[in-house]
Amino acid sequence: MRELRPRQPNDERRLMQPGGTTEQLSLDVLDQRQIDIAAIHQGTGIYTAAPEIEALLDQLGWPAQGRRLLDPGAGNGGFLVAALRRLDLALDDVEGATRRVHGYEFYRGAVADARRAVFEHLCGRGWTSAAAWRAANEIVEDHDYLLSPVPAGVWDVIAANPPYWRLANLPAGYRIDYEAIVPAHARADLLYAYLDRSADVVTRDGHIGLITADRWLLNSGSRELRRRLGTRYTVASVRRLDAGSAFYRSKARRRGTVSRVHPVSLILTPTGSGRPLGAEPFRLTARPAVDGVPLRDIAEIRLAPWLGPDGIFVVGPDSGLPAEHLVPIVEPADIDGETVRPPRKWALATDATEPPPVILAHLDATLDCMPNRGRRAVRWLPPETFTGRLPLDRDAVLVPRIARRLTGIRLPAGRLPINHGLVVISGLPVESVLAMLDDPEVQAQANDLSLGIDNGYRSFTATLLRQLVIPRRHLTGDPVSRS
Ligand SMILES: C[S@@+](CC[C@H](N)C(=O)[O-])C[C@H]1O[C@@H](n2cnc3c(N)ncnc32)[C@H](O)[C@@H]1O
Repeated sequence: MRELRPRQPNDERRLMQPGGTTEQLSLDVLDQRQIDIAAIHQGTGIYTAAPEIEALLDQLGWPAQGRRLLDPGAGNGGFLVAALRRLDLALDDVEGATRRVHGYEFYRGAVADARRAVFEHLCGRGWTSAAAWRAANEIVEDHDYLLSPVPAGVWDVIAANPPYWRLANLPAGYRIDYEAIVPAHARADLLYAYLDRSADVVTRDGHIGLITADRWLLNSGSRELRRRLGTRYTVASVRRLDAGSAFYRSKARRRGTVSRVHPVSLILTPTGSGRPLGAEPFRLTARPAVDGVPLRDIAEIRLAPWLGPDGIFVVGPDSGLPAEHLVPIVEPADIDGETVRPPRKWALATDATEPPPVILAHLDATLDCMPNRGRRAVRWLPPETFTGRLPLDRDAVLVPRIARRLTGIRLPAGRLPINHGLVVISGLPVESVLAMLDDPEVQAQANDLSLGIDNGYRSFTATLLRQLVIPRRHLTGDPVSRS
């Protein structure tokens, strides 16, 4: 049997000891695989509420527009029972039921739950127990959808709420096999691997109905996956769901709220009739293209530098360091509504030339506190160089990365923004930029492109700002001069 995790020292010992058989080792390894699967299920087993399942099946046109349906991560069987309920099956027609509906699930506890749910449903329709058990056992297959072979071209409808779990969180043994099997463009998250595999498995004319977190539609890490899916599918429909009511956790599982995802329900169709999907972020709301110019073509957009922990390159008012080497900073805590408070801290401005002894002495006394990622070969340089680029000699616009809405704030000349939580837009008159950012068409784009975080907050990155298309009316009239 194939070894499913790297050999551990104990395995070797068991192999060498008299009586330590290969079978024992295989059992041990299999047990470990079950432990890994239980951990993945613990993290991903978030089930779909019945109304959302019904809505997805409606959108898929099941069963009128499908012959065979697969749920590749069946959980407790919610999709399977809903799909069966819509079929007009004769009593005890095991062959009819198993031909049309199938589910994979790799966590044995969930396999048992799903089989029980299918059994109870069929018994409720008047089936005999024997026929209901046979159908339930066949419909719900104990199988790993990602790591084990799956027949392609059998199912013309895939209906799924795929697991959502980053590569880095996978248990080590499972991860080794996962990385060996799943192609690079689909590896970063179980969700990506599920999407990729589903596209390979479904029939050529088949549809894929999904309830997923929205991030794969927007993230730069899923560009290649989107591009590949987009060569075969368009998005027939997409709808935001309420995470609070669309999901629940099985009672047997850890207490707690469902994870912080921003779910959508969407249908991928091979007919070309939907909205195109491609490498670029997929906006959830189809909007007419804005007639305008990308912000990146008319302004400078920079992420504020990170200078390391306070006390090294960032000092308070009583540092005693020479004022000509200090620059007043702005960090997110200095923002009060839509204004910037007076300076409370200063940054040491150093460049390639060796600074005076008093600065060097300060750095030598404090650099111990700099994490490795902030250390430079030239010890008097901060983790991210800003001299020559910032601070700016005229007012500019600061955009907090985490906010409820895209917001511009006047950044006074001479103040240095620090911290990756801030983005600076310069090169245009401040009033023009503030008006551009406030424009409802720009706000709508920012809303579509940004990732929701929590409590109504969203993430407005420098990449997002560069993509914003500024309506032409902001560029006409008084010519916008680049400074
Ligand atoms: C998000 S839940 C969805 C369950 C169900 N379809 C629903 O929506 O209520 C995903 C399920 O997929 C299962 N799963 C995760 N990875 C799997 C894999 N590689 N093969 C089979 N099942 C898997 C998990 O155990 C979990 O029960």
